[in-house]
Amino acid sequence: MTLSIGFTLNGKAVSMEADPAERLLDTLRYRLGLTGTKEGCGEGECGACTVYLDGLPVNSCLVPTYQVRGARVETIEALDPVQLGPFLEQGATQCGACTPGVVMTALWISAHPELLETHTVRELMAGNLCRCTGYDGIVDAVATTIGEVGEGGRGKGEA
Ligand code: FES
Ligand code: FES
Repeated sequence: MTLSIGFTLNGKAVSMEADPAERLLDTLRYRLGLTGTKEGCGEGECGACTVYLDGLPVNSCLVPTYQVRGARVETIEALDPVQLGPFLEQGATQCGACTPGVVMTALWISAHPELLETHTVRELMAGNLCRCTGYDGIVDAVATTIGEVGEGGRGKGEA
């Protein structure tokens, strides 16, 4: 059995049939060719698969595709490459496996600076794991993006 669904993907209408067990991550990567979204753990722990669902960051490995019916999905491919500048400049990417998810979360934080009144960048980025960078570059890139760079380049409240 498959389900007929329609949703908006990076500003364009998509219609397709989806198996009820199909993950949004697999739909994006293997059926729609958007391989920028990565799979790390496959179980909601690493954040490599982060996309926006109706404007909120979600782990696409945990989202059944049929549940995005009528929704707006945005992936790393929708971003302006200029937005990656701070991440390259601050050494926030090495192997790159985590980078699309990190960037998606970081830019969402950047669009919601009020969150920094109650949380540090590290706390807000806790759902995005990285095996390579040690996180300092990621934190610095986020801080740069939101214009919060303070002494030592760590932004408000960062060690
Ligand atoms: S692959 Fe989705 S959270 Fe790790
Ligand atoms: S850059 Fe390799 S996992 Fe983050």
